[in-house]
Amino acid sequence: MTTDFFPVTRLRRWLDRILAPSARSAGTHEDVESAYARWAPVYDWVFTAPLVFGQRAAARAANRLSGDLLEVGVGTGLSLPLYDRKLTITGIDLSKPMLKRAHERVARKGLDNVAGLHAMDAADMRFEDGQFDLATVMYVMTVVPDPAQVMAELERVVRPGGTVIIVNHFARERGLLAWIERGLARFAHKLGWDPLFRRETVLDNTTMTLEHEERLGPLGLFTMLVFRRA
Ligand SMILES: C[S@@+](CC[C@H](N)C(=O)[O-])C[C@H]1O[C@@H](n2cnc3c(N)ncnc32)[C@H](O)[C@@H]1O
Repeated sequence: MTTDFFPVTRLRRWLDRILAPSARSAGTHEDVESAYARWAPVYDWVFTAPLVFGQRAAARAANRLSGDLLEVGVGTGLSLPLYDRKLTITGIDLSKPMLKRAHERVARKGLDNVAGLHAMDAADMRFEDGQFDLATVMYVMTVVPDPAQVMAELERVVRPGGTVIIVNHFARERGLLAWIERGLARFAHKLGWDPLFRRETVLDNTTMTLEHEERLGPLGLFTMLVFRRA
């Protein structure tokens, strides 16, 4: 019997394939697209539990508002059923395989408040200035190649007085988690996100006002930032 039939070996090969960095330099749109083409079939299975805290918190904050909501980096649409039906939702994502699953979820759950799901780059959105009343951006800022440009685009497409809700992991300055993050940073290209991504990368690239900040589970790993456009 060859080791090919040994489940651990198979599992290791599958993980290698999923985590394998692209042959190109890290951080390009092609890297993101090839990484999420690999993640799409197993994304919900792997990420539902760790990401649900932030998705629920962002949806709760969004559901206090009304109007047209843009979800940037909607992925497989895990958060779409969490929004109040009074909100009209548009989702965008760079990855077509992730969007395909979001389309399937919308059909399966009968989410008739989802107006559209589009393949689009968050750094170059094909929307009018001030087209949306609010935007949500969950677990995306660490992944995009140009977070400063994404912040500029968010500020452009949300109307004056509108709200931008960001959920992300931000690097710690000190303590055990900071130490762990510095260790993980060596594997950033394999993880597909940057454990040393700084909160200032978001704050320093917007003129929007930070109105609320909240640490979220699991273990306070993620943070929600709520901005208002002047
Ligand atoms: C970690 S997943 C988060 C998905 C979803 N927000 C959730 O909470 O499950 C990151 C998503 O961002 C998308 N993404 C990465 N770069 C992007 C970009 N420049 N424009 C639009 N979407 C992007 C990826 O394709 C992926 O679906």
